[in-house]
Amino acid sequence: MKTTLKTALAGLAISTAMSSAAFAEDIKVGVLLPYSGVFAALAQDIDDGFTLGLETFGADSGATFQLVREDTEVKPPVGLAKTKKLVLQDEVDVLMGVVSSGVLGAIRDTVDGAKVPLIVANAGNDEATGKDCSPYITRISFSNQQVNRPMGQWMVDQGVKRVFTIAPDYAAGRQMIDAFTTAFTAAGGEVIGQDWPAFQKTQDYGPFLANARASGADAVFVFFAGGEAISFVKQYDSFGMKAAMPLYGSGFLTSSLYVNAQGPAAEGVITALHYVPTLDNPENAALVAAFKAKTGRIPSEYAVQGYDSARALIEAVKSGATDRQTLAAALPKVSFTGPRGELKIDPATNNVIQPIHVYETVAGADGLTQKVLATLPAEADPANGCTMPAAIN
Ligand code: PHB
Repeated sequence: MKTTLKTALAGLAISTAMSSAAFAEDIKVGVLLPYSGVFAALAQDIDDGFTLGLETFGADSGATFQLVREDTEVKPPVGLAKTKKLVLQDEVDVLMGVVSSGVLGAIRDTVDGAKVPLIVANAGNDEATGKDCSPYITRISFSNQQVNRPMGQWMVDQGVKRVFTIAPDYAAGRQMIDAFTTAFTAAGGEVIGQDWPAFQKTQDYGPFLANARASGADAVFVFFAGGEAISFVKQYDSFGMKAAMPLYGSGFLTSSLYVNAQGPAAEGVITALHYVPTLDNPENAALVAAFKAKTGRIPSEYAVQGYDSARALIEAVKSGATDRQTLAAALPKVSFTGPRGELKIDPATNNVIQPIHVYETVAGADGLTQKVLATLPAEADPANGCTMPAAIN
């Protein structure tokens, strides 16, 4: 992980379009991802999407990229130490990555204080584009509230009125469930019970499933991701819960990255997300084909977040960014049409604005697939206490 890699980009040296590009040397990208632990598969998918994005969009940029990868291990203190190493010792031009909301919370002050741009390629921590927003933090992925808020009204509209919630007890679990609860309650629904299993420590969800069953709720709404999502969905099914209490959640629960490891247990689960690989548009078709050719897998939301992060970086460089400061200023201004559709960043918070797709996991010809039931319109998050400085100095 600590080895420094040079991406083999075509047009490595110079492009006419960028002949006077001021990044005289390689652009050094500090990659902060949890290559070990419960989110290791997510990290690899983001990394694969990012390198594919650099290859796809970088060729005519006139820029070359050097990646310095560090393993954050899903541990906030480790993420902070690795951030300091990348910023102070490696002197990277830009940071990219971060999967856990806990790690993002831990590194926010260091990123802001060092004035190094960070492209968030996953972690949904609402505070990073809310009360703790920074002109150095641009989020290309999603926010925790953005993915979960629309499900409140949608589920009430489907006749679901009383819900039990379960999520791991850390920043993302709390924020995702809080956003859902607020919207669901405002729409007339009732959350009749909540459980918060210990994050990264719970293997047996039996006691939480027993509480949900005893509650008599119409349905259960959860957030889990990575290895925990695989365990939870399988245990929900083997507990015999699915028929009596349909399972809903944020779409990471049944991500295309690991839904086939969940198998038939995932069938019929209804969740919401900003990207599913079945979206029907030419940019997505191109990504699916290229990602399959590169990795043998279909791209998940994690892969697209890495891919779009690379594209955002390249667009910022093409717009004339020359160093940390100008990159930070250029990143929130990028916009393009990608696999998710039109991608743009809210200047009030530096968070991506995008539609949310409600999807059901169904059996397809090559295993489980995602059937989109509804696409809920893009909505910018409220500023949530963010007062973005007008200029960077
Ligand atoms: C987060 O901690 O913000 C997080 C982690 C994994 C996901 C989504 C959000 O799939």
